[in-house]
Amino acid sequence: MSFNTFGKLFRFTTWGESHGPAIGCIIDGCPPNINIKEQDIQIELNKRKPGQSKFTTQRKEDDKVQILSGVFDGKTTGTPISLIIYNQDMRSRDYETIKNKFRPGHADFTYFKKYGIRDYRGGGRSSARETAARVAAGAIAKKVLEIKIGKKFKVIGAVTQLGILGCDVNKWSDQTIKKNSFFCPDKSIVKLWEKYLLSIRKSGSSCGAIIEIRARGIPVGLGAPIYSKLDMDIASAMMSINAVKGVNIGSGMNSAQLTGEQNSDEISQKGKKIKFESNNAGGILGGISSGQEIIVSFAVKPTSSILKSRKTVDRFGKNTTISVKGRHDPCVGIRAVPVGEAMLNCVLLDHYLMNKAQCS
Ligand SMILES: Cc1cc2nc3c(=O)[nH]c(=O)nc-3n(C[C@H](O)[C@H](O)[C@H](O)COP(=O)(O)O)c2cc1C
Repeated sequence: MSFNTFGKLFRFTTWGESHGPAIGCIIDGCPPNINIKEQDIQIELNKRKPGQSKFTTQRKEDDKVQILSGVFDGKTTGTPISLIIYNQDMRSRDYETIKNKFRPGHADFTYFKKYGIRDYRGGGRSSARETAARVAAGAIAKKVLEIKIGKKFKVIGAVTQLGILGCDVNKWSDQTIKKNSFFCPDKSIVKLWEKYLLSIRKSGSSCGAIIEIRARGIPVGLGAPIYSKLDMDIASAMMSINAVKGVNIGSGMNSAQLTGEQNSDEISQKGKKIKFESNNAGGILGGISSGQEIIVSFAVKPTSSILKSRKTVDRFGKNTTISVKGRHDPCVGIRAVPVGEAMLNCVLLDHYLMNKAQCS
């Protein structure tokens, strides 16, 4: 399998499978002399790890990260940083009964047809277990950006729609996001989401979600505006996350319904400061950050591993049915929040470094 590396100047390569001994990543291009502790990475991994509530998969993983290289005396040395997370709670027997069948909506069919071989245990490399390694890389990118940009820098994500139930993004509260199992920014909807997702899970089904990630304190000027536009690289990063089926920057798809005057974010000067009246652009103009909040949202599809019986085929070309038992997320969107944050941190650091190289 080719292309396991993400990024241009800040690059990470992930490795490992869902039911192998471990997963991890190697980060190349991290600036030297950045204070990094395993705990900085662990905080981010803890947000993504499974088994934390009845609304996510019950696989129990500590996701304890170990730094193997690239950090000396608590500081990055500029050499490759290698991170490892051991897998602990694999139950490969859950996959025995479906090892020759292709889960509709999952990657089983295409992996087998493309490579002629497939690690069916937990989905192997197609499992979102891989995203733990991205979160670890993102934690390092975040640390670098906090030091380089300063205190005003912040990336925060939330689930803004769970299945058919949206929330009011005007009630967005960073504090609320931290206090509920859904990363929901609007506390008035949380109880309803709980009831809804429990009923979906009980019925043996699953649902999709919309996730919104916001980046604050980003300086004007990040983005190489033809073939590495900031919005293009952010969209590509989000699309690379398992189960993501659509990405919006700012008003995104909704901007098609707006008129020119509704969509244009009017600009005014206040003393030395530039003020935008609105943010339909999602903080990016001409592929370059405008200094406004960067806003990206993405849709994830419903989990394909469900108890409800579905028609499919087996690897011998026979029609059959499949019902997936075992431990799965009833809505993958919840645990996709820290993954989206990590990918945005990585893209922003990559562009921060590229901008320094050309324009500072
Ligand atoms: C955080 C996260 C957790 C996921 N958990 C599951 C899961 O428990 N069961 C499942 O079938 N798919 C899960 N997925 C989705 C699959 O990994 C994904 O559908 C599969 O790799 C096929 O890729 P595609 O959906 O991008 O086509 C998860 C995705 C993410 C982002």
